Amino acid sequence: MRKILALAIAMLMVVGLTSFASASEDPIKVGVCIYQFNDNFMTLYRTELQRYLEEKGAVVTVVDGKNDQAEQTNQINSFIAEGVDVLIINLVQASAADAVIPLVEAAGIPTVFINREPFVDDPSQWDNVWDKVCYVGADARQSGTFQGQLILNLPDQGDVNGNGAVDYVMIQGDMENVDAQYRTEFSIKALTDAGLTVNKLFEQRGEWDQAKGQELAATALAQFGDQIDVIFCNNDGMALGALQSIKAAGRTVGTDIYLVGVDALPEVVQLVESGEFTGTVLNDHIGQSHKAADVALELAGGATPEHTYTVDYVGVTPETMEYVKGVVGLE
Ligand code: BGC
Repeated sequence: MRKILALAIAMLMVVGLTSFASASEDPIKVGVCIYQFNDNFMTLYRTELQRYLEEKGAVVTVVDGKNDQAEQTNQINSFIAEGVDVLIINLVQASAADAVIPLVEAAGIPTVFINREPFVDDPSQWDNVWDKVCYVGADARQSGTFQGQLILNLPDQGDVNGNGAVDYVMIQGDMENVDAQYRTEFSIKALTDAGLTVNKLFEQRGEWDQAKGQELAATALAQFGDQIDVIFCNNDGMALGALQSIKAAGRTVGTDIYLVGVDALPEVVQLVESGEFTGTVLNDHIGQSHKAADVALELAGGATPEHTYTVDYVGVTPETMEYVKGVVGLE
């Protein structure tokens, strides 16, 4: 009996000591800079990023760059002054990396860039940047190619009006962003690589924004009407806007026009499933935010990261639908 009691006391002491040790350890402080809160995709991303980091015991502050690089640079300086352990930065301008990396390096604060691949003037410089800096993102070429394949998989391969060509409208994101550049290029490349003839009717920047997507689609529909076979949008936000204009113009997606986006916003996945939207591509904000958070916590603990971490896009097709619904929380 006495032995059992002694053992129990010893165990209690161990438990007591460990909980004391963990209670006395300061939580990791993470500063998160988002390019703009008013962005459908980045809202899903940042919400999950914060939830996951907090679940891991970190103390997290997330700030809104309001699409203004000067404002974001001030926010980075405030985080540095405050002494956060690690930064996660979704740059407003990819080209600001040249100015931001020296700031965080001088302060000795490891940094994970997310979503917008940092662009440095001299690419060899990015290879030689401070080794506590890395990028977590996705290869936008993949998303463009999947968009093209969604059109190729249609019975008429996107030629609704049967004139022998895919006549298309391209609504672009912010063109400083490689996501916008590659989606614009690789969606069409998938069609021409498959031997289709394409005809670009209209191409303009909607800056990732739903209201601008709606405006541009309305302009294109007014100008080109039935000539349009497909509206490609660099993201789902703009495609949701385009869908409103398509309906207002009396056209029906899947019957007399096609519409594709990228991101797999939950509402778009539902529209794809019900046939009101031709297709989208999963931009895996869960995979990306978890990767960014894990790497950030490792960096705060002293690790040296790899240069780049990429998370795969997934084309949303009948075969992948269940998987995608699981990822975006529709089940
Ligand atoms: C997403 C867009 C988003 C942009 C922000 C892209 O990867 O597809 O929806 O607006 O990132 O940088």
